Amino acid sequence: MDMTTSLVDHSFRKDVRRCFEQQTYAIPARWLYDRRGSELFEEITELPEYYPTRTETQLLKANGPAFAASVGPNRAVIEFGSGSSVKTPHLLKAIDPAAYVPIDISGEFLEHSASLLQAEFPDLPIYPVEADFMKRVALPEAVADMPKLGFFPGSTIGNMIARTSVDLLRFMRETLGEGAQLLIGIDRIKDIQTLIDAYDDAAGVTAQFSLNLLHRINRELDGDIPCDKFRHVAVWNDLYARVEIYLEAQADVRFSIDGHVHEMVQGQKIHIENSHKYGLRDARLMLRAGGWTPLHEWSDEQDHFTLMLVEAHPLKYAP
Ligand code: AVJ
Repeated sequence: MDMTTSLVDHSFRKDVRRCFEQQTYAIPARWLYDRRGSELFEEITELPEYYPTRTETQLLKANGPAFAASVGPNRAVIEFGSGSSVKTPHLLKAIDPAAYVPIDISGEFLEHSASLLQAEFPDLPIYPVEADFMKRVALPEAVADMPKLGFFPGSTIGNMIARTSVDLLRFMRETLGEGAQLLIGIDRIKDIQTLIDAYDDAAGVTAQFSLNLLHRINRELDGDIPCDKFRHVAVWNDLYARVEIYLEAQADVRFSIDGHVHEMVQGQKIHIENSHKYGLRDARLMLRAGGWTPLHEWSDEQDHFTLMLVEAHPLKYAP
């Protein structure tokens, strides 16, 4: 077991213990993405109901010349949470970058997708970095003097509550430096049924994705949670402008994790994910709060999804 695995293991255990021992009944969404969870998420992105991936990919494909004009050539592209890097080629093709730095917490995934990308862009220097992008990341020396473009697609920021998303944007600004640009995917507020369907698909893939968290606890933390007694629930919280995802106990249950016994009553829920949605002004304000100045926006015809290009300007003081 390498260093990173044991660190991940330690914080997973800590977060799961807090959920049941301090009875917060909430587990951070990042733990949904073990190997099986990442596979299921890839399946989600292909579902008819799950519009974000498809819409964002179309935006990336359709707006290459506009990106090139706004971003210019010779930037180091730094991708946060690169995962399988499937959207990246569209951007790299459009802007003629000087280097590519995929950052991901899962080293295994990272090497694999970096080598696939290297085959497609043989002349592009690629420097994978295994790190938690929720903190400041030390970039490779080789890109230190290059102008930078952060890339944060997928509306991953939607998983974060407001203050965490602003913290992250500020960390990104520190990581990338003044003068950097950031291209970020933002999922828009839209009719509620479209939103709910995207997180509660007819084939039940999203339900499997959620339930995999309980299976993961059983696998990795010596648990015996009766997973079949839990049900995936997605609800729209209008006050917070987010889809909330829960695992709800369908009966009174009793189980142990790590040798500790826990009980939940029928109807009790574990909060496992938020997916925040934004109006354009909401998103601009969030980005500005994080130290980023809006430059350009690209949306689909239905205004389901927006790519925003923002820039780290020197800080100005009042007025
Ligand atoms: C990876 C956070 C963008 O919120 O749409 C999809 C995760 N969860 N279906 C999202 C997710 C259930 C996804 N993000």
